[in-house]
Amino acid sequence: MKIIHSIEGIRAVRSGYSPQSVGFVATMGYLHEGHLALVKQAKRDNERVIVSIFVNPKQFGPTEDLSRYPRDMERDFALLHTSGVDLVFVPDIETIYPADFQTVVEVSRITQTLEGAHRPTHFAGVTTVVAKLFNIVQPTRAYFGQKDAQQAAVIQQMVRDLNFNLEIVIGPTVREPDGLALSSRNKYLDTEQRAAATTLYRSLKAAEGLWESGVRDGNVLRQKMMDVLSAEPLARVDYVSAADPATLVEYGSTVPAGSGVLLSMAVFIGQTRLIDNFLLAVREGE
Ligand code: PAF
Repeated sequence: MKIIHSIEGIRAVRSGYSPQSVGFVATMGYLHEGHLALVKQAKRDNERVIVSIFVNPKQFGPTEDLSRYPRDMERDFALLHTSGVDLVFVPDIETIYPADFQTVVEVSRITQTLEGAHRPTHFAGVTTVVAKLFNIVQPTRAYFGQKDAQQAAVIQQMVRDLNFNLEIVIGPTVREPDGLALSSRNKYLDTEQRAAATTLYRSLKAAEGLWESGVRDGNVLRQKMMDVLSAEPLARVDYVSAADPATLVEYGSTVPAGSGVLLSMAVFIGQTRLIDNFLLAVREGE
């Protein structure tokens, strides 16, 4: 496995891979089984796999956790080596954002709701760095997790709008046995908070139960999630949502026939902000 820090270095190795297919997993490091599941899928689909590790300052707000974001590069390298990755790109900040950097890649509408409404500069930071990484790595396919549902939708929109010549693959959310979605931020939770954090999954399950019993009222679905979350004293809700999976616009009292729903939420457990979601489809014949 090669570890490369420079753009020229990546370009040189990448051109040696052609015409083989290249799968790409962009990460901010501190890897967990969710990342490794994406790597595994990339290995299955492609002849070569490239992973990037870059904690992107542009996607963190001024009061967010950039400086304390967990890092463990040696462990990450060992995991990627064991997973059979060919190349790891580990740029430093000046490589990605040189002093005269002045471009922003921004997707407009679907970044206005949910995470975008609560983290106004976040998605422009994500799309700017992902666009750069796509241009540097030139992957055949790029893999992102469903855990970050809106990020996945925003990146797909950017790829369509800007005609990036690659396929986006969305991998399922990987969970702990008790349902907690894997996230590098779970490391911040103490024992009591870790137990409380299952409230996100439990609230999604409760709303899923309503959906499966035929409830098609966005207000009722949101209220169900709120009821479960409110019962957890350590949880502070940032938002809950029952939205159209394509536009991410909230459903009102009726979900249009034939439409699925994206149930999603952001919840603080102590100082740690966790997100989770279920993407629910309509039943056959509905
Ligand atoms: O999902 C993440 O870890 C980041 O948002 C990404 C896609 C690596 C961009 O920095």
